[in-house]
Amino acid sequence: MIRPEDYEFIRTLVYDYSRINLGTDKQELVAARIAKRLRVLNLPSITAYCELLRHPQGEEELSNLIDVISTNHTFFFREPAHFDFLEKQIVPEATDEKSPHKRSTFRMWSAASSSGEEVYTIAIVLAELGLKRPGWAWQLEATDISTRILKRAREAIYPEEAVSKVRPELIKKYFQKGLGPQEGNYRVKSELGNRVTFRHLNLLGPPYPFTEPFHAIFCRNVMIYFDRPTQEELVRRLADRLVPGGYLLVGHSESLTGINHRLKMVKPAIYQLAR
Ligand SMILES: C[S@@+](CC[C@H](N)C(=O)[O-])C[C@H]1O[C@@H](n2cnc3c(N)ncnc32)[C@H](O)[C@@H]1O
Repeated sequence: MIRPEDYEFIRTLVYDYSRINLGTDKQELVAARIAKRLRVLNLPSITAYCELLRHPQGEEELSNLIDVISTNHTFFFREPAHFDFLEKQIVPEATDEKSPHKRSTFRMWSAASSSGEEVYTIAIVLAELGLKRPGWAWQLEATDISTRILKRAREAIYPEEAVSKVRPELIKKYFQKGLGPQEGNYRVKSELGNRVTFRHLNLLGPPYPFTEPFHAIFCRNVMIYFDRPTQEELVRRLADRLVPGGYLLVGHSESLTGINHRLKMVKPAIYQLAR
C-alpha cells in the first residue's frame, strides 16, 4: 500500500527528473517496485523512503528510484521492419556517392538503449553490410537514463533465450559462447562492442553532448511513457540532431500524430528530416 500523498510525491519527483508520466492510477505498480528499494535500504515503509528522498542525501537515491520505476523490456531484432529499412534504405542513401549529405562516418544513435539489444542489433546489421563495403566507417552511440541497465548493456552478456531471435549464423559470427560459469550465456564480440559508445543521458535533461549529427536515431518504446508536451519537446530535440535527410524511428505503438514536428512520415513509425 502507498499513501496518496506519498504516491503524489513520487509521481512528481519521477516526472520532474525523467518526464516519465506515471498518471494517477499506478499506485500498485509503484508500491511493488519501491518494495525492492525498501529491502535493499532496510527501510520500514514507503513513507520512510519518501523522507530519504526529501533529504539532501536522498539525491543519490533518485537514480535508483528511476531505475526501478522505468521499464527496460527489449529484445534483439525487435520490430524487424526497422532493421530491414536500415539495411535497404537508410544505409544505401547515406553512403550514396552522389548524396550531397554523404559524410565520412555513418553515425547512429540508440536513444533509449536499455540493456543493449537494440544497439547490438543495429551493429550486427551494419557489420553485415560492411562486409560488402570494405573500408566503410560507422559508429554508434547508445544512451539511457538508467545507470544499472547501461552497466548490463556495456557487459554485453545475454542468456541463451535472449539471443534466440538472432539467426544462428549471426550468433556464430558475432557472439562468443560462454564456458564454465558462463555456460548458457552469450557475449557480444568486442569487434561490435568497440563500435558503441555508451553514455548515461536523460533525453529531457541538459543539452545533448554530441558534436556530430546522426544519419538515423532509434528512439523506440520510450515516448509511450511521456505526455504530449514532452513528446513534442523530445522530437524537436532529436530532429535537431539529424543530418538533412536523416531518419527518426519510433516504436510501432508510438506515433507522432497530434504533435507538432517538422519531420515527414515515410512509413509507420519512420520519419525523415527534409533534405
Ligand atoms: C522499454 S525500454 C526501450 C528499449 C529499446 N529502445 C526497445 O525499443 O526495445 C525504455 C528505456 O527508456 C529509458 N528511459 C526512460 N526515460 C528516459 C529518459 N528520460 N531519458 C533516457 N532514457 C529514458 C528506460 O530506462 C528504458 O531503458
